[in-house]
Amino acid sequence: MSISSSVRKILIASAVFAVAGLAQAQDTIKIGLVAEFSGPFADYGGQMYGGMKAYIKQHGDTVAGKKIEIIQRDTTGPAPEVAKRLAQELVTRDNVDFLVGFGLTPNAMAVAPIATEAKKPMIIMNAATSIITTKSPYIARVSMTLPQVTQPMAIWAAKNGIKNVYTIVADYGPGLDAEAAFTKAFTANGGKMVGSVHTPLQNPDFAPFIQRVKDAKPEAVFLFLPAGAQGIAFMKAFNERGLAEAGIKLIATGDITDDGVLDAMGDPVLGLTTSFHYSAAHDSPENRAFKKAYEEVNGTRLRPNFMAVAGYDGMAAIYEALKKTGGSTDGDKVMAALKGMKLASPRGPISIDPETRDIVQTVYIRKVEKVNGGLYNVEFDKYPDQKDPGK
Ligand code: PHB
Repeated sequence: MSISSSVRKILIASAVFAVAGLAQAQDTIKIGLVAEFSGPFADYGGQMYGGMKAYIKQHGDTVAGKKIEIIQRDTTGPAPEVAKRLAQELVTRDNVDFLVGFGLTPNAMAVAPIATEAKKPMIIMNAATSIITTKSPYIARVSMTLPQVTQPMAIWAAKNGIKNVYTIVADYGPGLDAEAAFTKAFTANGGKMVGSVHTPLQNPDFAPFIQRVKDAKPEAVFLFLPAGAQGIAFMKAFNERGLAEAGIKLIATGDITDDGVLDAMGDPVLGLTTSFHYSAAHDSPENRAFKKAYEEVNGTRLRPNFMAVAGYDGMAAIYEALKKTGGSTDGDKVMAALKGMKLASPRGPISIDPETRDIVQTVYIRKVEKVNGGLYNVEFDKYPDQKDPGK
């Protein structure tokens, strides 16, 4: 064999490899998961990814003839610059077709312009400040908004004899949204606001805020804090300062009694009333199947919470959209497929509002009860078909 013919053979072989590589790239759909996987918010990413894996466990890892690949990236916490850089790298280096995840509002806000520029569908699996979906036409949200879950709590409180309320909220987007939505709906239903405090997002010390509220002697406190360990610290301080003994009731969005931390809060939270879109105790065939798949893939360390369900539903939305586009990941086609989509979620029926690309869903009023030895948010009232009232 002459040198030139062996060189030719190598060239042909590498051309074949290159074509095969291209075919493989086109047959794979890449999903870039940008979320919090370390630091105090590490469970956010863990829950979302757990929910995504549960969906794949149930439905397989191919859709419309293409294989699904998830690429995880860790924002490390509320770090908009990090989130932005990771999303940029996922788009330019890894060639992802979707950007998904986003536990914290500042991270979602930072990535919105990248979705717009790259025309990549961006699926929000938690970040819940109302304004986020207006920041790019390529954003759709499968989680919730704070005004959406807060308004029913305010109406319920006013209808159930609570006359004056002090609000405590985390001092950033979702907290300010919750405070505004509560104030609007509660006063419209005859209630009176007696004060408000804002707690820092990072490393909050709740004691001085709680003391200030105790001194004001309101009938009830309405609370929003980002889900996770903060809730445990807040409940400890609330109990230590004796607010319940002073006759001050607590109501909140369900972030505080997030299923991932509820058991760790212990019996002092029994009876706590919250409003939310998902409870692990929700009784439906879809939820039972979801919890089974979640446990099979992720073990029993973490009970699936609302972020796990959003991860699961985010994957459902992607699979259904790709079926409609025949596997095309063209950003405009995928967004058209997402608008108006209806899904049977583990939380109940959900849809994507075609006007706003935000989620429409039932918001439940729940109470913490002991069920089979564990603490659960047991649903006892509901407000169906809630859009985001914050827009
Ligand atoms: C948010 O940053 O938008 C956020 C985080 C945690 C929650 C709710 C909203 O529980």
